Amino acid sequence: MKRVLIFSVFLLLFVLNTVIVVIKNGILVFRQKNNIRTFAKNKLIKIMSKKVLILSGSPRRAGNSDLLSDRFMDGAVEAGNQVEKINVASRKIGYCRACYYCKNHAGACAIKDDMAEILDKMLAADVIVMASPVYFYAIDAQLKALIDRSVARWLEFKNKEFYYIMTAAEDSEDVMDCTLECFRGFAKCLEGSVEKGVIYGKGVYEKGEILPHPAMQEAYEMGLSVK
Ligand SMILES: Cc1cc2nc3c(=O)[nH]c(=O)nc-3n(C[C@H](O)[C@H](O)[C@H](O)COP(=O)(O)O)c2cc1C
Repeated sequence: MKRVLIFSVFLLLFVLNTVIVVIKNGILVFRQKNNIRTFAKNKLIKIMSKKVLILSGSPRRAGNSDLLSDRFMDGAVEAGNQVEKINVASRKIGYCRACYYCKNHAGACAIKDDMAEILDKMLAADVIVMASPVYFYAIDAQLKALIDRSVARWLEFKNKEFYYIMTAAEDSEDVMDCTLECFRGFAKCLEGSVEKGVIYGKGVYEKGEILPHPAMQEAYEMGLSVK
């Protein structure tokens, strides 16, 4: 009799397109089948997705490298990743003083500014995207200050995937290659770093000149490939 009753309840639930999913604290929780499917899909996406941190270094908001960063972000979000972009120039990041306070304070820096929070985010990320305008054949000072400050916890970086985005007025490989080496120097110091992609936005000077440039599509597709 008991079995028939249970079977009938299940049959009824099935007909109502509902199933039991959890028994939480002794309470039966019912969910619509479709909800379960969405729930499971979202959970799966969350497990499969990567944490992507974009560090946009230009002081020009919506400047060329920043626009490329946004396109990369569009693609990475569309691919189901968890993406965050930080405009480095708008954050308070002091220069490393080489005091090595961090060595005796478990990676805490003597300078109290935004860098501790950014470092946490860098360490939590699977993927780090660094974008910079070319300034005299190198990355800009804002991004370099950030890189130098990572000395506080650089040994904790493990197996990060790196993407680099650069923009320059000159239409020259040389100017880009030099700048790329600045990024690479950082990654070379970190255990297990993997370079996954590079974008050159060449021949763009004024803010927004990158918009019709093929690098915009490249950035989007590169973001989309993050899986
Ligand atoms: C301080 C400074 C230095 C620069 N040095 C170079 C350079 O060496 N080579 C170059 O091609 N462009 C150089 N540029 C131009 C920028 O790289 C170019 O305008 C780029 O598109 C800016 O990117 P953004 O809009 O993301 O800031 C320089 C610009 C500034 C402000």
